[in-house]
Order: sequence, then C-alpha cells, then structure tokens
Amino acid sequence: MTGKTDEMKKVRDEVVNLTTSPLYEYRISNGYHAVLGEGSHDAHFVFIGEAPGKNEAEQGRPFCGAAGKILDEVLQSVGINRADIYITNIVKDRPPQNRDPLPEEIKAYGPFLDRQIDIIQPKVIVTLGRYAMNYIMEKFGLQFEIEPISKAHGKVYTTKTLFGDISIVPMYHPAAAIYTRELKETLKEDFKVLKQLT
Ligand code: URA
Repeated sequence: MTGKTDEMKKVRDEVVNLTTSPLYEYRISNGYHAVLGEGSHDAHFVFIGEAPGKNEAEQGRPFCGAAGKILDEVLQSVGINRADIYITNIVKDRPPQNRDPLPEEIKAYGPFLDRQIDIIQPKVIVTLGRYAMNYIMEKFGLQFEIEPISKAHGKVYTTKTLFGDISIVPMYHPAAAIYTRELKETLKEDFKVLKQLT
C-alpha cells in the first residue's frame, strides 16, 4: 500500500467517525454513507463539488447521479478519463433535501478536503459551482479575485502552494445544466481550457 493510500484511509476513517459533524445523525438515521471521493491519488486534476446528493449518499460515491452523468459527458467531450482524475466534494455528507451547505458544515468538512488536496498535490483544481469556487479561492489566497460564477466560469487562476504552482479553474456546477440545458454547452466550451493545462 502506498503512503498516499494510507493517508487517504485515515481521512476517510476520521470522516466516517465524525460524530460531532452536523450531518452525522442524518447520515446514520438514513443509512447513508459518507462520500469521501474517488479516483487517482496521483491525479493531475482534482474536481471539487459541493456535497453528495441522495444517490451519492446511498452509494458512497461522488457524482454518480444525474449531475454525475452530465459531468461524465462533459469530461468525455474533452477526452479526460474519469479514472485519471480525483473527484470529491467540500461537504462529505448529504445535506437534507439537497439544500445548500451551511457555513458550519463547510467548516466541519473543509479541513478534510484540505488534507486530501495536500495528499494528492494536484496541478489543477477544478471547482464545480460557487461554494467550491469560494472555498478554494479563499484557501489559496485569491479571495480578492472572487467574482460571481457567471463571470468566473472557465477562467484560469494561478497561485503558489507549498507543493508548487497550481491552476484553479471555476466551472458551473453540472447540476445547473439539468435545469438550464444550454449550460451543458457552456460547460463543454469551458472544459476545453483544461486540455491546455495537462
Ligand atoms: N453534486 C455535488 O456537488 N456533488 C456530488 O457528489 C453530487 C452532486
């Protein structure tokens, strides 16, 4: 077993046993799973969503429902293989009724996302939706450059980290394309920039 896999397992075990989490009781009482993430621990690209939905919490896998289908299609359109990337969320448990994550939930789970990023040390972080964009831009000192997602989508921001220079690319959340169909084309157009960042 590699060191990275061991570290990831530690993160998973801590989240699974996080009885102090605001979403712990909800997970247990519904028989849901925590959703840690999926993919390569050596990924060049890390994709970060908001929080698991119902399908994800039932299966313990990120982006395996309707939004995941759109994400898969958009990834395929630019030739990125899901097995080569890492996909996770800020919040690791499903919020009731798929509501937006609360600040205390982001505060509870954010440090686990931070550790996952430190373990993988990606070159590119792709944020899906405004919650992930805000969290990651703030975390990497780009808080003064934050714009509404309608302006920021598809732009490439670069910043220095302890593990080297990285690019941050905010994208619309794939779930938005379920309700607004033309957004799928926007996503496909925006994802093309990732090919220049390989
Ligand atoms: N939406 C998200 O933000 N994450 C998932 O894993 C699924 C849907």
